[in-house]
Amino acid sequence: MIQLQDVSRTFFRGSTEIHALRGASLHVRAREVIAIQGPSGSGKTTLLCMVGTLDRPTSGTIIIDGINVWNVSDQKRSYLRARTIGFVFQSYNLIPELPAWKNVALPLRYGGIALGARKRRAIDALAAVGLEDRVHHLPSQLSGGEEQRVAIARSMVIHPHLLLADEPTGNLDSQTGSQIIEQILTLSESGRTTILVVTHDPKVANRCARRLQMLDGQLHEYPTALGSSER
Ligand SMILES: Nc1ncnc2c1ncn2[C@@H]1O[C@H](COP(=O)(O)OP(=O)(O)O)[C@@H](O)[C@H]1O
Ligand SMILES: [Mg+2]
Repeated sequence: MIQLQDVSRTFFRGSTEIHALRGASLHVRAREVIAIQGPSGSGKTTLLCMVGTLDRPTSGTIIIDGINVWNVSDQKRSYLRARTIGFVFQSYNLIPELPAWKNVALPLRYGGIALGARKRRAIDALAAVGLEDRVHHLPSQLSGGEEQRVAIARSMVIHPHLLLADEPTGNLDSQTGSQIIEQILTLSESGRTTILVVTHDPKVANRCARRLQMLDGQLHEYPTALGSSER
């Protein structure tokens, strides 16, 4: 469902070239659950932005659900993103003025769905992460773990084919973090969602069927990257 072929992304800082991705290639089948590990600055976030069509590669090809995403119009790409991709980041990125359900309902605003139906789906998504009693709370009235669960509900409310999570437990204590990961994996099973999760936590990575290591802008299958021939 996702194919990256030789994807590179170069940033320019002044006259300095930064090669965040150097020919990364990846084939992801539908419903795969993949952990991406690697040192800070190795290109993990850049990779997720590429897969999420948030940023354009300097070179290389990205195909999602059979669509060569940078060969189509902005409109078609935005539509693909809005309908099929859910995002969870380390920072929860909730809108402080909006209660939990309105934050969760935001991704539905492009779908031509009536307000009542949007509200119902948002409340269902909050219930799926155990927050049915926090529907009307503002982000400031929630704990960090609860805020991240709201963010997960927001990513899942569209029933995405693909969930991209960038260090989703990075700001949480380990117990809350484990709960968040369980929640993501459970939702993915029921929703038939493909998952790419960037994590530094070996426990999280161990829960994923496939592990990739990002090193200097290139992807390696784990544990092959460590010099072992075991698969
Ligand atoms: N928008 C940007 N402008 C300039 N450099 C960037 C930008 N985004 C990322 N980089 C650089 O690209 C490299 C990879 O960054 P990133 O993908 O964020 O790594 P990771 O998520 O693995 O820590 C780093 O050297 C980073 O400083
Ligand atoms: Mg990062």
